[in-house]
Amino acid sequence: MELLHLHNVSLWRNSVTILKNINLTINRGEQWAVLGPNGSGKSFLMNIIATLVFPSQGEVIIAGKKLGEVNVWDVRKHIGIVSDYLQFSYPVKTKAVEVVASGFYSSLGLYQELSPAMIEKAHTILRTLDLHQYALTPFGKLSYGEQKRVLIARALVYDPDILILDEPCNGLDIRSREEFLLKLSLLVQMKKHIIYVTHHIDEIMPWITNVMLLYEGQCMYAGDRAVFDDEALLTKVMGFEVGIFKHNSRMYWYVK
Ligand SMILES: Nc1ncnc2c1ncn2[C@@H]1O[C@H](COP(=O)(O)OP(=O)(O)O)[C@@H](O)[C@H]1O
Ligand SMILES: [Mg+2]
Repeated sequence: MELLHLHNVSLWRNSVTILKNINLTINRGEQWAVLGPNGSGKSFLMNIIATLVFPSQGEVIIAGKKLGEVNVWDVRKHIGIVSDYLQFSYPVKTKAVEVVASGFYSSLGLYQELSPAMIEKAHTILRTLDLHQYALTPFGKLSYGEQKRVLIARALVYDPDILILDEPCNGLDIRSREEFLLKLSLLVQMKKHIIYVTHHIDEIMPWITNVMLLYEGQCMYAGDRAVFDDEALLTKVMGFEVGIFKHNSRMYWYVK
C-alpha cells in the first residue's frame, strides 16, 4: 500500500532550481535511504515531505491525502522529522521527558500545560527507545547521540507512519555513531517507515530496502538497494570515482 507519493515535484527559489521533477513512491514495509552530496537538495526534499515547505510545482500525497487539499496539520501527524536545526535550537534545561512531550505542541521547550496522558505517552516512547534512564536529565546534559535519540522520541508522539532522519549521524564519533545506528532498528521493529538521509554510504544499514540518489536537485535513481552494485552510477552522483566493498552486510566506499 502506498504511503507517500511525489509526482513531478519541483522547487525553485529566486529563479534558482533546487529540485527538478522528483517522482517517488514509498510503500508500506519499505525503508528508504536518500543519498546525495552536499547541496543536492536532500533537506529541501525532506522539508517538502514533512509539509514544512510547499513545492513550487507538483503533487505530494501522504497517506492518501493530497497536500493543498486537506488540513496540513492532519497530514503532518503522519510524519516526524529530526534535523540538526532542532537540536541546536533546543533549550538545554528542559528535561528529556518534556522534550519528548513538547512534540505534542511542535514547540521548542514547554509553554503549554501537558496533560497526564501526554506525559505518560512520552515516558512510554522513552522506554520503547531504551532511553528511559534519561527521562529526567536536562537536554543539555545528554551526549550528542542521546540528544538525537530524544528528538526522535519527540518526533514519535503522534505515532507517525514516516520518520525522516536528516543526516542524524553528523557530529558523532565512530563509536557513538555505531551505537546510534544499531538503536535505529528499534524503530524498524515499531513498524516505522524511515527515510534516512545521508552522504555516507556506510550509514546505510542492512534493513534499508530502497534508495534514492539525488544529484543537483534531480533524482538519478529511486528503487531497490541493488543499485549499490552500480559503481558507475554512484561515481556520477557523488562526483568522484568510487569503489565499494561490503563487509558484514554493511557497505564502504573508497576513491578509486
Ligand atoms: N534561499 C535559497 N535560494 C536559493 N538557493 C538556496 C537557498 N537556500 C538553499 N539553497 C540551495 O539549495 C540547494 C539544496 O540545499 P539542501 O537541500 O540543503 O541540500 P543538502 O541537504 O542535500 O545538502 C543548495 O545548493 C543550496 O545552496
Ligand atoms: Mg541537508
